[in-house]
Amino acid sequence: MSKPLLSTDPVYQKVQQYYDANGAKINIKQLFESDPKRFDKFNLTLKTPNDGDILLDYSKNRITDDVWKLLLQLAESRGLAKARDEMFGGTHINITEDRAVLHTALRNKSGKPVMVDGKDVMPDVLAVLAHMKEFTNQVLSGEWKGYTGKKITDVVNIGIGGSDLGPLMVTEALKPFSKGLNMHFVSNIDGTHLAETLKKISAESTLFIIASKTFTTQETITNATSAKTWFLETAKDPSAVAKHFVALSTNEEKATAFGIDAKNMFGFWDWVGGRYSLWSAIGLSISLSIGFENFEKLQEGAYFVDQHFQTAPLDQNVPVILALLGIWYSNFYGAETTALLPYDQYLHRFSAYFQQGDMESNGKGVCKSGKRADYQTGPIVWGEPGTNGQHAFYQLIHQGTRVIPCDFIAPAQTHNPIAGGIHHKLILANFLAQTEALALGKTEEQVRSELEKAGMKGEKLENLVPHKVFTGNRPTNSIVVKKVTPFVLGALIATYEHKIFTQGVIWDVNSFDQWGVELGKALAKAIEGDLANNDKVSSHDSSTNGLINFIKSNW
Ligand code: F6P
Repeated sequence: MSKPLLSTDPVYQKVQQYYDANGAKINIKQLFESDPKRFDKFNLTLKTPNDGDILLDYSKNRITDDVWKLLLQLAESRGLAKARDEMFGGTHINITEDRAVLHTALRNKSGKPVMVDGKDVMPDVLAVLAHMKEFTNQVLSGEWKGYTGKKITDVVNIGIGGSDLGPLMVTEALKPFSKGLNMHFVSNIDGTHLAETLKKISAESTLFIIASKTFTTQETITNATSAKTWFLETAKDPSAVAKHFVALSTNEEKATAFGIDAKNMFGFWDWVGGRYSLWSAIGLSISLSIGFENFEKLQEGAYFVDQHFQTAPLDQNVPVILALLGIWYSNFYGAETTALLPYDQYLHRFSAYFQQGDMESNGKGVCKSGKRADYQTGPIVWGEPGTNGQHAFYQLIHQGTRVIPCDFIAPAQTHNPIAGGIHHKLILANFLAQTEALALGKTEEQVRSELEKAGMKGEKLENLVPHKVFTGNRPTNSIVVKKVTPFVLGALIATYEHKIFTQGVIWDVNSFDQWGVELGKALAKAIEGDLANNDKVSSHDSSTNGLINFIKSNW
């Protein structure tokens, strides 16, 4: 049964009325002044079994008790609980591809079956995990040898999108847990990416992982083919390929056709979306980097949040809270973007990862019912780690004309307490200062008095005052963890996955297809033919013709 458009939902309309009457008046500073215990009301702690607490502080948001109640009602009226159960239960919620969505089965640690189309998928899931474990241990112990008998020292993951960003983000985030292999990631079709990587490695001691759900992605197959050619230029013997190339894919036939040995294949299934696949065989590079035990801990962290998401009441549910806040800003305050700002250098690819996770999932303009959404759906997601971002784009967040809700993520403990821990104290001070400044701002009076104290007066002072005022009232969430461990990272990733899911349910979009990527792919294929010779083209629009002809006259 198709769901009514969000804009016709009576609760949504109530939120709209509330916003129309109060939205412009809600001021975070005033909310803190009128309720000194506001933090107590709008924070939540998740107690992990062994890795400390995870704190979500969402008090620095433009929310009052009244609107918060309405937003929670909205989650109910949009059928979140039912949709959540359907996802975990294996219903084909990816309606345009007629597939279940079960990345959660990959990290299911309950020992209970997960049924897809009447079949328990857990035996297959566990078999692939066992294969990953065996292979990881062989490579890390040196038992797995290259064609000249040397140990593997370097791993090159060739994949793109979900087959690259997840493994890359996680291996970077968990570098302190590295078992010593040098990890490389090649994604871009630009030959530079592969060429620069090949300069750093030796064929004898390198393992290439060809990561592609479909095994048809142009970038990956082109890079993999060139890598194999490069490898064989040194190895000469095609039988050496089996020791140096493995495939992670749902498409056994294509992986076989590429020349990968059946025992070097790690499978997964169509119910694992590309951008949700790091928990599957696609995580092999993670496992090789940090060891299988740590990969399992990453999964356990995600499972911990899966249980939280399924069982916690909506008002105590971290992914739901994050999702509702996002809806409040996107749909009512007209926020176009949202920033993910980790204050941890190891998390430097976290926002890039969730840029795909969120934008490919909820960047949809058509509802599941087939009707066009007459409201905003997925936001633009972006960000860089602090404090680098502070010196690049925070100016706009502080004093620009747009509302940019930000999530700050910070660990209380660092893996690198160098110089007596001063670096970490400073990064934490910066994180705290930013969220405080964004929320509270700086009034005209404060600016004036500061300038007067500095000896300024008259016209000069008056001219400067408006430029130094910070309006504040800029919303942020703060997520503070004890330390970034595999478990904690798994929990963070699952939190954002379920936030995206929740928003997709409220917007009623299919968060699990990506038809929008297809048109460009198809046109690229057509243009590939146009670039096969030096002839002038006239078959496209005049701009595309002009660009092609300019390139041809300059290559
Ligand atoms: O960008 C589109 C997409 O299909 C993503 O969803 C996916 O993560 C990526 O391409 C790579 O696909 P594959 O793993 O099939 O090579």
